[in-house]
Amino acid sequence: MSGTTIRLKGCRKAFSDGTVAVHDLDLTIEAGETLAILGPSGCGKTTTLRLIAGLERPDVGQVFFGDSDVTRLPIERRDVGMVFQNYALFPNLDVAGNIVYGLKVRGVSPAERTKRCSELLELVGLQDHGKRSIHELSGGQRQRVALARALAPRPRVLLLDEPLAALDAQLRERLRSELAQLLRGLGITAVFVTHDQGEAMALGDSILVMEHGRVAQLASPRDIYQQPANAFVARFVGNLNAFSVIEHTPHGLKVSGGELPWNGADLPATVYCRPEHLRVMDSEGHLHGRLVGQFFQGAQSRLLVDVGAAQPLLVDSTDSAIHAPGSLIALAVEPQVLFTLSS
Ligand SMILES: Nc1ncnc2c1ncn2[C@@H]1O[C@H](COP(=O)(O)OP(=O)(O)OP(=O)(O)O)[C@@H](O)[C@H]1O
Ligand SMILES: [Mg+2]
Repeated sequence: MSGTTIRLKGCRKAFSDGTVAVHDLDLTIEAGETLAILGPSGCGKTTTLRLIAGLERPDVGQVFFGDSDVTRLPIERRDVGMVFQNYALFPNLDVAGNIVYGLKVRGVSPAERTKRCSELLELVGLQDHGKRSIHELSGGQRQRVALARALAPRPRVLLLDEPLAALDAQLRERLRSELAQLLRGLGITAVFVTHDQGEAMALGDSILVMEHGRVAQLASPRDIYQQPANAFVARFVGNLNAFSVIEHTPHGLKVSGGELPWNGADLPATVYCRPEHLRVMDSEGHLHGRLVGQFFQGAQSRLLVDVGAAQPLLVDSTDSAIHAPGSLIALAVEPQVLFTLSS
């Protein structure tokens, strides 16, 4: 299986009630890449996926697969596989029947169907489940059957709309990493819709964050997290500490609770960092405050430290030390983890 480059050029989609679901979207997904589309409910994720699938036609703009303009091609002529949130398997067919359904329709020979079915069962880890009926499967197994079914015709493009949303947290996390590995191994071009930032980070080679039908940012998971384009993206993908700058000093920024190191040429009014980038020190630090809360979260603890600003600082620490309430906490921060935001 090999993927194709997908390109959306100035795509706009409005519905009859006047809702503009997607505004002038320009987007390129490289062959073999997995793009995660992330954003709050109603921001246009599914509509974007449906434009790529051929289930919606843009009012304006074009969709290209490689060099060919597929804007007017319906889904059955686009060579795409799709997996939805709610499996949509055929309950009257067994697992194997579901997987080969699309092959039968396409006139693939019985021998070839059997061969491909066993390859796919193995790929999704359901070797011994071909003869099972759908209601004898767990949610995670059903989702794998849906994936195998979508992959059976060897599509150039795989589209997934919140395929893990119906699963419990633990299974979700496991399937998430399995799916990430599988997609990389297949070399297929994939678009994965989710409103879960952890899922987008784990699965996407790049992430498209959408807000009100527009691109808020398109970048690698690392850049989305560490260099968010604006406050919306920054807050959507994780927790933030905001520091109001009181004064610029020769080597830093004076803020409530101390002085932050700063190498930037610009002199911002507010700088930000993620909770895990504040380090608890034995004595000396850039910032000092009082502990006002501590929450054990398993692999890490979250501390709330009052430095005299409007909000206590959030500090995520993997150090399991327990501090007495009200004790003095010293925090250090590296200048490179501080960032600024346009609103
Ligand atoms: N068939 C339709 N008719 C009218 N409006 C629609 C239709 N489909 C979607 N919309 C509207 O377009 C906007 C984008 O919808 P879309 O389904 O793409 O959002 P989404 O990001 O997938 O949301 P969710 O996370 O809730 O699935 C919403 O305001 C929605 O109400
Ligand atoms: Mg949706």
